[in-house]
Amino acid sequence: MPRINVLPEEVRNYISCGEVIESPYSVVKELVENALDSGASRIDVKALDAGLSFISVTDNGSGIAYDELPLAVAPFATSKIKCKNDISQVRSLGFRGEALASVCNVAALKIFSSVADGVAGGMIYREGGREIDYRKFACPKGTTVEVRKLFFNAPVRKRFLKSPKYMNGEILRIVQEYALSRPDVVFSLRIDDKNYFNDLDASDDERARVLKIFGFENADYAEIANPVMGLRCFAYPLEYKSSRRWQFIFVNKRPITNSAFLKAAENAFEGYLPRGKHPPLFIYMTASSGIIDVNVHPAKREIRFQSPRTFYQMVYDVLRNKYSKNKMAVYPGKPEIPGDSAAPPPALPLQGADAPKTTGAMIYTQGHCAAAAHTGAEGRKPEAPDAGIRWDNFRYVGKSHGKFLIFSTPDAIHIMDFHAAAERINYEKIKLKITSGNIAAQKLLVPVEVKLDASEIDALKENSAFLVKLGLALKYSIRSVFVQSLPAGFSGLEKDMLEKISACLIDGKKHNDIFESLADRAVKIIACHMSPRAGDDIRAHEAEAFIGELKKCSEPLRCPHGRPVMFTIPVSKMDLVLRR
Ligand SMILES: Nc1ncnc2c1ncn2[C@@H]1O[C@H](COP(=O)(O)OP(=O)(O)OP(=O)(O)O)[C@@H](O)[C@H]1O
Ligand SMILES: [Mg+2]
Repeated sequence: MPRINVLPEEVRNYISCGEVIESPYSVVKELVENALDSGASRIDVKALDAGLSFISVTDNGSGIAYDELPLAVAPFATSKIKCKNDISQVRSLGFRGEALASVCNVAALKIFSSVADGVAGGMIYREGGREIDYRKFACPKGTTVEVRKLFFNAPVRKRFLKSPKYMNGEILRIVQEYALSRPDVVFSLRIDDKNYFNDLDASDDERARVLKIFGFENADYAEIANPVMGLRCFAYPLEYKSSRRWQFIFVNKRPITNSAFLKAAENAFEGYLPRGKHPPLFIYMTASSGIIDVNVHPAKREIRFQSPRTFYQMVYDVLRNKYSKNKMAVYPGKPEIPGDSAAPPPALPLQGADAPKTTGAMIYTQGHCAAAAHTGAEGRKPEAPDAGIRWDNFRYVGKSHGKFLIFSTPDAIHIMDFHAAAERINYEKIKLKITSGNIAAQKLLVPVEVKLDASEIDALKENSAFLVKLGLALKYSIRSVFVQSLPAGFSGLEKDMLEKISACLIDGKKHNDIFESLADRAVKIIACHMSPRAGDDIRAHEAEAFIGELKKCSEPLRCPHGRPVMFTIPVSKMDLVLRR
């Protein structure tokens, strides 16, 4: 590696500045980038207490000479660029000369480094920017950076940190990203006493790395190569997910974020995947300097494309070519789950502690429909509040459009969305069973394997006692869970259900939800899966049973996701409209 120099003022002014250490994962990111820039073929990452008490990154790269250690931690000191023009040509991940200095300012940082085996290396120790120790130290070729007491002098920053589980997830994600960007480098990651992808083998095969990290097989592969840019896309539509966490973009081996790009890529799958589902996507691009600018964002996570639309179009075209041929061919019968992909309409708030209590009845008024809400002061008095519904008077008339049940009462016609009704009924039943004891579990003769990502598996594992209460007994392996029992009545959507429950659990941690609300969300999902769907055959006696069951519910007129169960047209309105 060239010698480290302090950048002249005119170059500093040109560099995109700003705070880069916002959370433990930012430290891991900067240290892993440095290790990759040093030409390492092996990188070992360790973290304790979500990185707050300890992070270390060890590499076998070029090392830092003893006399350059103080410069490595000095602000605007870098070996990667010398002048302004170098920025536009830069191929290294770092170039600002700011990362180690920033870490030093908010933590205790030790660097052990040597430029060759058998050559005396050095150690430097800084705390909050102050030098505590600096001396010769025997160590193998390469560098180990240890960071302790992160944010010890920044109490406000500490207060706003996310939960430890969430921060661990961020560390895992960032190391995954770099491991995916550089399959030629061996990586290991240990968080507390858990090893994630121990010793990923090195090869040039990006697909092999994806397989090793996520277990996805059978990539659909698309490629474009021209003199100014190359593009390789690996898509795994058969492994579609409910979130975009499995989508990555690498430009010149730099992981970047660019939601417009991902959107363009996903548009190519339109009509090919169920609504609300996202394909795991790994997009690798090489772009010659001049058509991209990496000096946009201090954390170097964003880059500017000279003509972004050309890039988006290219990604779209290459993927669309693949999928338009088979459009709608792969998932013809996969059911969509209402309340899953489709968010409830904004006018109908979700139930919950903070949500205003509404009856949920949809009532036809003056030629349009409105949510009947009697929400206190400003709530308009509904024309048929649920308190006024006389459930005994319901007479089943028939089924319509495969998804509605029609009932008549002396003063109205009621159109029931039977999936929503069943969700409400199942939800209240499961909740009751959970609060009163254990839910009945249905043991599977042969356990069903569901492949999941490490963070999903962790989320499920940590909540396994709770899941057992839901009737879900799981066995865990590195990349899969084996479903041994299901809640009684659950009908074969294991993968979807587990993905969604784990996403809820991960989210819940993010928003610091309490256990009760996690339970509530997971129960909603199970209730949804247990409930009949549009197109399912509903017999007359079953339709009538809905009324009996809804009558027992505490909130009969809304499904657990907040959508109305019934649309009511009062006879008086029909008389008006039909001029009787
Ligand atoms: N693991 C490492 N191996 C070898 N040299 C390193 C290592 N880490 C840091 N250095 C040296 O220390 C210098 C300062 O590192 P630092 O991360 O602060 O800045 P940078 O990588 O140059 O730019 P950026 O702020 O964008 O990351 C680097 O330019 C590099 O010369
Ligand atoms: Mg750096």
